[in-house]
Formats: sequence, C-alpha cells, structure tokens
Amino acid sequence: MYKIVKRKQLNDTVVRLDIDAPFVAKKVQAGQFIILRIDEFGERIPLTVADADPEAGTVTIIFQIVGRTTMLLSQMKEGDALLDFVGPLGKATEFGNIKKACVVGGGVGNAIAYPSAKALHKAGVEVDVIAGFRSKDIVILEDEYKDACDNLYITTDDGTYGEKGFVTNKLQSLIDAGNNYDLVIAIGPIPMMKFVSKVTEPYNIKTLVSLNPIMIDGTGMCGGCRVTVGGEIKFACVDGPDFDGHQVDYDELMQRNSTYRNFEAHDKENCRMYKAAEQVGGAE
Ligand code: NAD
Ligand code: FES
Repeated sequence: MYKIVKRKQLNDTVVRLDIDAPFVAKKVQAGQFIILRIDEFGERIPLTVADADPEAGTVTIIFQIVGRTTMLLSQMKEGDALLDFVGPLGKATEFGNIKKACVVGGGVGNAIAYPSAKALHKAGVEVDVIAGFRSKDIVILEDEYKDACDNLYITTDDGTYGEKGFVTNKLQSLIDAGNNYDLVIAIGPIPMMKFVSKVTEPYNIKTLVSLNPIMIDGTGMCGGCRVTVGGEIKFACVDGPDFDGHQVDYDELMQRNSTYRNFEAHDKENCRMYKAAEQVGGAE
C-alpha cells in the first residue's frame, strides 16, 4: 500500500498528493509517469510525476478532477493509502545538450511541465517558463516555478493575472524579441501543444510535447495509447510520452481521446466508481 503523506487543494479542481513510494522516488526522472489504482476494483490511471523527493521517499502527483477515479482520488485524505502505484514508466525527457530553453505549460499541464523546468534549471540551462491559465483563480505552481527558472511569464486568457492572451502569443513575442531557444517543451491541452509546435516550426526550434492518450497497461501490450508521429505508429507508454511536436498527428489524438467522453459523462447508472463517490458525498 502507498500512503498519502500530504494533500493540498491547488484550486477548485486540481489536487496535489505526496505519496510514500520510496523506490519510485529514487528512480523517477522528468517526463516519466506512474499508473495507480485506488483499490482492487479501481480503474488504472496514468499520471505524469510532478515532483519527487528521493530523501523523503515521496512522489508528488498533481491531477485535475475529470472523471470518477480522479474524483475519488481527490477525496482521499492524508493517511489513506493507494493499492497500486507502479512506475516509473515511459522514457525520461531527453533534453539534449542545450543552452537556452522555454518551457510552456497550459493549465494543469503545468504540473508536468514543472519537473522539466526544474531539471533544466538545475543542469545550468537558461530557462524561460510560460505558464498559461484561463484565469487568475486557477493559477498553480507560481512559487515553485520561480525557483526553477530564470524568467517566469504567466498568461491568462481573460487577463485577470499576468499578461492577457494564450501561451502561444507570449512565445511568439519572446521569439520576436530575439530569444534564441534551443528547445521548447510544451505540455497542456492538445490544441495548445499543436499551436505551440506551429509557432516554433518556422524557426526550426526543437519542440517536445508530452502526449496523454488513453492508457491501459502502460507496458506496450494493449495498443490503447497508439499515436501517429511522423507517419509512424508509436505507443506513448513505451516510446514516449515525449515526442517531436512537429511530427505528431494531433487531430487523430484528439479524436481518439474523445472516444469515452460521453460514457464518462453519462453512464452514472452503471458506474461503480460513481456510486462509491456518491456514498462519500462527492458525485456531481
Ligand atoms: P485550458 O484549456 O485551461 O488551457 C490552458 C492554457 O493553454 C490556456 O490558458 C492557453 O494559454 C493555452 N491554450 C489552450 N488552448 C489553446 C489554443 N488553442 N492555442 C493556444 N494556446 C492554448 O487547460 P486545462 O483545462 O487546465 O487543461 C486540461 C487539458 O490538459 C485536458 O484536456 C488534459 O487532458 C490536458 N492535459 C494534458 C497533459 C499532458 O500530458 N499533455 C497533462 C495534463 C492535462
Ligand atoms: Fe497499452 Fe500503451 S497503454 S500499449
């Protein structure tokens, strides 16, 4: 069992949990993920690791409440324990030998962008971070980012905090201002990663995106996480989750990720997780 040692609500729908998982904490690198299961009936969900403390033996996950499992997970308290916490899975981010990077995070994707900024900054790379959110009330990780980069730019779609606009607007203006990035890392909603890649493509800036397709086994066996990159089929769980942003078929990924959206939203009658959430007073 994997005990929750710390729980923090970051905004209305985003929760941070620090999990006691010493073996994962020792090995995990930026970009890798874990698969967890709350209990023996539970769905397996993949989550990219947000942070780890090898000394304390803890692994930090940050997730948005989007379905039954994340809702149940959000209702767990410090001292509760998860049945399974498997990892680290996937390949670590390959940064290459670089001098200047821009890390771009969108919404809850910032939880996954943050470890890349931290790792690059620690390695002596000059790091700009653009963290985009819809509005001020859902900004997360501002303090953590400040310690993990040289320049932090926060954008909000509605202009209630930082600069008004999308992360892509800020990235374009930083490139126009003469910033020569060797690498851009973009993690967030699929349209965001698509349009960040469109911004960087004309300048030939290496761009990595972290893909989040549907995953089941996480070991390359089931094919659930199939994505098309550069016209070739790849499995995000073993070949990724990071890929060349200029090569990803984003439209196919969006279409595949929406397969179970109606089921998740409407199948309350038959959903055991939904009933369990109702019992603890959490279902919508
Ligand atoms: P959001 O929709 O609020 O967007 C966050 C920011 O991304 C916006 O503020 C904007 O700056 C930028 N953005 C969004 N759409 C854009 C576009 N078309 N062009 C340019 N910039 C754009 O994000 P959210 O609701 O916090 O994110 C949830 C989504 O992120 C879910 O779909 C989730 O699956 C995905 N996600 C992806 C990963 C990953 O590994 N890639 C990780 C966590 C979450
Ligand atoms: Fe099954 Fe990747 S999750 S092959």
